[in-house]
Amino acid sequence: MSPLNLPAYLDDRKLLVEKHLDTWVPAASRPPQRLNAAIRHSLLGGGGKRLRPILVLACAEAVGGRIEDLMPMACALECIHTYSLIHDDLPAMDDDDLRRGLPTCHKAFDEATAILAGDALLTLAFELAATPIAGRNPGDQLAMIAQLARDAGIHGMVGGQMLDIQAEGRETALAELQNIHIHKTGALIRASCLIGARLGGGNEEQIRHLNRFGEAFGLAFQITDDILDVIGDARLMGKTPGNDQKHQKASYPALMGLSQARQEAQEMVNEALESLSSFSPAADPLRALVKLLLDRTH
Ligand code: IPE
Ligand code: IPE
Ligand code: MG
Ligand code: MG
Ligand code: MG
Repeated sequence: MSPLNLPAYLDDRKLLVEKHLDTWVPAASRPPQRLNAAIRHSLLGGGGKRLRPILVLACAEAVGGRIEDLMPMACALECIHTYSLIHDDLPAMDDDDLRRGLPTCHKAFDEATAILAGDALLTLAFELAATPIAGRNPGDQLAMIAQLARDAGIHGMVGGQMLDIQAEGRETALAELQNIHIHKTGALIRASCLIGARLGGGNEEQIRHLNRFGEAFGLAFQITDDILDVIGDARLMGKTPGNDQKHQKASYPALMGLSQARQEAQEMVNEALESLSSFSPAADPLRALVKLLLDRTH
């Protein structure tokens, strides 16, 4: 097996995901034009790393699954994620003007359109997730759709976003901060891994390990997002740094300083790598991806 070329792998997967997303979202010329244009602006206009669908596919591959069968499900994760970004940027939430290198949805359009574009992406996600998967037991798929709903909702991302807002402007202990991050960001990332593992045909032990991988990856990812908000470059990130401090967000650098925050991220990366110890080189993309977190610039 030739060694993995991670940048080429990521480019290739990003293109594949974008090609599928493009086919599932109506053209901006189709009614309701304004809604479709707003969805396209946020989902496809500025790009994005496509991390969550890439994790679905990479976890499926790690257990020997066929990625073509999982494209609708992988894209469902990206639709939920993009909806969460549109709503996260609204004036009532983080009040951001720049996302994926473009004006945020409510800036390019208006607040009502941004709210509806988010709603539309969330519902489109479940339509995609319910697309029958060749060779998979429908019961397994149904269980993963329910899992996705839980991890995107009250007990996952949406719940975490509520906690994030309620923690603004006050001190938080580490346990509370960790709980916010595990929910607002960790839940969807863990779900991506779990869904990829299960619908890729993994056995119970593999699924357990990949779920743990996703948990550690998710927390490391939000810690490094917090770090980038302090030290990152707007041009590389495609979003404006400094917003966490402006809104007095509960963040790792605010609680413990940059160097300790880096240390915490490193520990999570180590845990994620450990959870892959029993996997073959088929899990190399996952290994490379999680190592990348520590010096990511976007
Ligand atoms: C940003 O997510 C929001 C968080 C959950 C930290 P990403 O950094 O994955 O954003 P895109 O998809 O690449 O734009
Ligand atoms: C976002 O966390 C988590 C979401 C569920 C969208 P942030 O608010 O830190 O994400 P950015 O920094 O705006 O991308
Ligand atoms: Mg936020
Ligand atoms: Mg934000
Ligand atoms: Mg952030």
